[in-house]
Amino acid sequence: EKGGFDSFMAKEIADQPQAVADTLLGRSDEDGRLILDELRVDEAALREIDKIVVVACGTAAYAGMVAKYAIEHWCRIPCEVELAHEFRYRDPVVNARTLVVAISQSGETMDTIMAVRHAREQGARVIAICNTHGSTIPRESDAALYTHAGPEIAVASTKAFLAQITACYLLGLYLAQLRGNKSPGEVTDILGQLHAMPDKIAKTLEGLDQVRRMARWMADTRSVLFLGRHVGFPVAMEGALKLKELAYIHAEGFAAGELKHGPIALIEPGQPVFVVVPSPTSPLHPKVVSNIQEINARGARTIVIAEEGDEDVVPYAQEVVRVPQTPALLAPLVTVVPLQVFACELAGAKGLDVDQPRNLAKSVTVE
Ligand code: M6R
Repeated sequence: EKGGFDSFMAKEIADQPQAVADTLLGRSDEDGRLILDELRVDEAALREIDKIVVVACGTAAYAGMVAKYAIEHWCRIPCEVELAHEFRYRDPVVNARTLVVAISQSGETMDTIMAVRHAREQGARVIAICNTHGSTIPRESDAALYTHAGPEIAVASTKAFLAQITACYLLGLYLAQLRGNKSPGEVTDILGQLHAMPDKIAKTLEGLDQVRRMARWMADTRSVLFLGRHVGFPVAMEGALKLKELAYIHAEGFAAGELKHGPIALIEPGQPVFVVVPSPTSPLHPKVVSNIQEINARGARTIVIAEEGDEDVVPYAQEVVRVPQTPALLAPLVTVVPLQVFACELAGAKGLDVDQPRNLAKSVTVE
């Protein structure tokens, strides 16, 4: 069933263009207009929502962080992301005008189930973004928007993550249209950009031999840092989580803007640092390039994930991994892919069980 791959994870990484395409499938009509009939939440209530809270754990929470950037930008509704286990126990401000979005691959994560129950007790409407039909979280929510990633076997989440991000974009566009923040034409344009993503993910996957080689050289590395900004920040944290889970290597993801506020003290000669670079069209691009310059000057081994055609990073990077040009908000669908492959290969090079890392379960059904 591994389809010729060494591990389920490797197969699931390769399946990502399909996971995104399938999650988009059937959610627009032939004229490119968004249809999300399954969101059976009273439209009048959704127009009244004054806050969105995304609750999730682990990788699903990083998908939620990406969602926050897109939802606030498109819908102008304040959006917070909270780890489900923190949300549940801190007496959060949630009421009938709050929309809670619970993201879960399995739909059985106890921490997230408890957060959903708590939110509903406070009168909030809950939409589940879930990969498993009929599981507890969608059953206990007001509505479900399913991701169509197919079964994810490897403990480390990959294709479900991309599908979750895709579903979050669809939800954001739906709310933006419903509340009049985006015209149907604007929504159709962004949907068109989304439909272009599976090919871009496939293209990213084709160019990753360099990452595989790097992973093999770096099998003895003790610590790896990941930097990103804007939607690249959750991608950096996801890259670090994959490396911890699979390769048992100390890894941390930081917001690049935070560097000078502390983490730069960690930089010493030879320290590997992955930097997720925003598109050169982004006003944040020069700021991240200057971060790369700073860490490079301190001897870090800089591995940069940058768009094709971005030449500004080249003088300061030991390695440049290329991803296709992509609208800023959609970039995580391509920039995370090299980081997943890096972690998978490095774990393989260390002889570890990529699909069943130590101490972890696929779905955490206890609090
Ligand atoms: O099934 P869920 O999406 O609710 O799971 C949430 C986390 O437990 C999960 O994403 C975990 O962090 C993965 N092992 C990450 O690779």
